[in-house]
Formats: sequence, structure tokens, C-alpha cells
Amino acid sequence: MKATAVAHKNFTVSEIDDRLYGAFLEHLGRAIYTGIYEPDHPTADANAMRGDVIELVKELDVPVVRYPGGNFVSAYNWEDGIGPKQDRPTRLDLAWHTAESNEVGIHEFAEWCKSVGTEMMLAVNLGSRGLDAARNFVEYVNHPGGSYWSDLRKKNGQEEPWNVKLWCLGNEMDGPWQIGHKDAEEYGKLAAETAKAIRAFDKSLELVVCGSSHSNMPTYPQWEATVLEHTYDVVDYISLHMYFANHEKNAGNYLALNQKLDDYIVAVQGVINYVKAKKRSKKDIYISFDEWNVWYHSRQQDRKILEGQEGWPHAPALLEDVYNFEDVLQVGLILNTFIRRSDVVKIACIAQLVNVIAPIMTEKGGDAWRQTIYYPYYFASRFGRGTALDLSIDCPTYDSDAFSGVAYADVSAVHNQEEGTVTVFAVNRHPDEMVDFSVELQGFGDMRVIDHRVMTHGDLNAVNTSAQPDEVAPRKGEGASVSGDILSVSLPPYSYQMVRLGR
Ligand code: AHR
Repeated sequence: MKATAVAHKNFTVSEIDDRLYGAFLEHLGRAIYTGIYEPDHPTADANAMRGDVIELVKELDVPVVRYPGGNFVSAYNWEDGIGPKQDRPTRLDLAWHTAESNEVGIHEFAEWCKSVGTEMMLAVNLGSRGLDAARNFVEYVNHPGGSYWSDLRKKNGQEEPWNVKLWCLGNEMDGPWQIGHKDAEEYGKLAAETAKAIRAFDKSLELVVCGSSHSNMPTYPQWEATVLEHTYDVVDYISLHMYFANHEKNAGNYLALNQKLDDYIVAVQGVINYVKAKKRSKKDIYISFDEWNVWYHSRQQDRKILEGQEGWPHAPALLEDVYNFEDVLQVGLILNTFIRRSDVVKIACIAQLVNVIAPIMTEKGGDAWRQTIYYPYYFASRFGRGTALDLSIDCPTYDSDAFSGVAYADVSAVHNQEEGTVTVFAVNRHPDEMVDFSVELQGFGDMRVIDHRVMTHGDLNAVNTSAQPDEVAPRKGEGASVSGDILSVSLPPYSYQMVRLGR
């Protein structure tokens, strides 16, 4: 089948905020302990952080990492994670029914962020705690000195403030599962007051208020409207989350789910505009999509721990989805959606980064390797920076159970003016037909193919393991070419690919 697109240099969606390729690390399962932190690991650095994991994260060039949760943050005392390690308390983590040793806290996490070259995005606890703990945390992290909390930070070994710009006002506060769950009125008022206090400390900080945990939530989208009516003037972003699953093992339905993501973004954009109009405001609010990924492979095996049948284990294996080739396509589709909606989605965080529903997997005392989904995330983060192009696409479609008119070829494109490159990301959803894809390039001058990577596999269920870490991996593509101003590339059935054009 044939598909065509037109890309014009001046026909753009938006400048992409680099933070569209952020990630998330929670005190959950083995994300922190034996994920990033493992004092006895052969590659551990002076801070007891795994060097092998640091290398893999550096390769991804992650711009920002959200921390420390997640559901965990809603009963977290940030003060438990500061001061001498031997004095730090072990606490029961009510969100995941585990024991938290607090060996890693803000100082250790900040050092790790420095090692991998990323920024911190910190969440405050608006579940079991509130404004006071939040403002103290902000002061501890960002104030230069001469106050109780900033001097305590210095005493604990960190002279300079970390100057964290981005702060989340709680996590998924619409979810009944959340410790300290609130209704939209209660949360909206608390978030507004907390935001006011944080802004009184520093007006330049960027604040993220909780939107819905999912578009299936019964309170969605009224939640967004109520919360924004309380907070519009004092926040910068509204947070959305979405996880993807293929329980029914139907690839056609599964691979159409980014349409649901797109609908969610567009609807919340509408709510933002509604509140903006109601308030006669000049200010814009954007979306921070700070949790997204495939999450379903591990649900069954986690039940015992989450129901408390195993007591309170420390850092057990939880949410350890082993991703397959089909998930490569899904993650490619999700990232394409974010690029196409980069006018309103400014921040997005893959959830999570290591071991817990993550692109990187580790064995305690052993290897670290790239899961299948590492690759589409890597390609987008490395090469998806610049200006998102508003492509005009013509492609045959199919109907899934939930959506009509799903294009077989799902495409996004990014123009990087500085480098003089155009990068095209494409997923072919067709099970057995090749898509002959051509893009008419207008206004870019002479271009040639400078890189072409392809991911295909005969088995949608193929996975990477420590024994076979390269079972699903990209290979160099063949046959993509530019003739005149037309890029031609064949998209094999069920494939992900990236084509880069330059001079
Ligand atoms: O990422 C796993 C969990 O998913 C997070 O803790 C929570 O915010 C969401 O429900």
C-alpha cells in the first residue's frame, strides 16, 4: 500500500520542549534499590550508584527525572531521607506495601542526577501532609543559606542549593487508591494555597498541578475544570497520566490506543481553554504528561505483595514488566503523539526508568540491559529535538474496536534548524503489508539520508533478557532515499523506524 505526506519547513506544530523526553523514578520495587543504587555492585561508584545503569541512562540523554513518586510520595516524609544514613528511619510504605530504608534521599538522588546529566523534577506530599512540609522541602532544596532548612542542608553536606525549577503538587490526587485522596474541591484549594506559598518563596518556580490519573476516571474531565478554576493563576502545568495494556492480545486494537491518548490531550487542552476564557486570563497552562508507558505484563505476579501477603519486603521485584516487540511499536506511537501535540504537551515522563515498568532492567549484583522499549525512547530523545512539523498525511486506514480511521502508518517529523536535519519517526501498524511511504519535502533545501534505523521482528512477543539482551534491537535500514524533494522509504509490516535527513 502507498502513503504520502507533505512536510513544509514553515508549517510547524511547535518548538519541542526538551523535557518532552523526561523520565520518572519512584521509591517503588527495585527502581532505586538495586536499580540505580547498589553499594555492593561491581560497577558501584563512590556514591554507591550503579555505573552500568548510569551509562545506559546517559546514552538516553534524559532531560529531567521526576522523583520520588508516584503513589509513594503521598505518605512520604522527605526529612526521613536526609542526615547520616545510619540515623535514617525505616518506614512502612503504604502505597506499595513495602519497607523503605531511606538510604536514598534527596542528596543521593541529586548526586545521581548530576552523574547522568539530568535535571530534577520533585514532587511534594499533598496526601498525608500539606503546605508546611512542602514549603520546608522547597526551602531545603533551593534556598542558598541563612535559614533553618537551608542551613540544615549545608550541615548535611550540600553547600549550594540545587535550584530545582519544576515541582509537582502531589500525585494522582483524584485516585481513591492515593493515601490522602481528595475530591477536586479539596485538592484544588490545597494545591492553590501550596502553590501560593511556594511562589511567595520564588515566583520563577514552575508548578505542576494534578489532573486525572487516566481518562477512564469517573471524575474526568470535571476534575481538571474544578482544579484549574482553583489554581489557574498560580500553576504552569496540569499533569496527566496514562498506561497502555493489551490484555485481550489483539494487536490491531492495542496499536490504535494512541488515539485515546490523543483524545485525552485534546480534551484537556479544551478544559484549559475553557478555564482560561472563564477567568479572562492571558496566561497559558500546558500539559505535563508525567507518567506514561505500557503497564500490564506484571500485574498478575505483583498481586501477592500488593495485597500484603508477603509482609513488608524491602525493594522486592514489583511492576517488572518484560517488554516485547509489540511494545516497541506502542512506545513509538505514544512518542509520535507527544511530538504531534508538542504545542500543548511540554513535559512528558516515561514511567519509569529502571526496573519498574522501565526501559532499563537490572539484576541484583549482575547485568543491566536495554529492554525492547529502550530503543524508540532513545531515538526520540536523541533525535526528536527541534521543531515538530505539521505533516499532511494521506494513508489507508482500518477500524479498531474503539476507533475508526486508524492510519496504518503513524508518523511524526522534527526539524532541527541548528543541525539542518529533519528526522522522521514512523510506525507501520499493518500485520502483513509493506507501506511505500513518500514525503514531499518543501523549503528545506537539498537533503540526503544521513541515518536510517529499523526495528522489525517475526514475533510480536519477542523480548530482551539478560541472557539475550539483543534479541530485539534496531538495525541499519536500507533503501531510504531522497530524489529531488521526495523522501521514499518502505515501512515493513509491524515496524518502527527512524529516518534522518541532512545535508
Ligand atoms: O508508576 C507507577 C504508579 O502509577 C505511580 O506510583 C502512580 O502515580 C501511578 O498510578
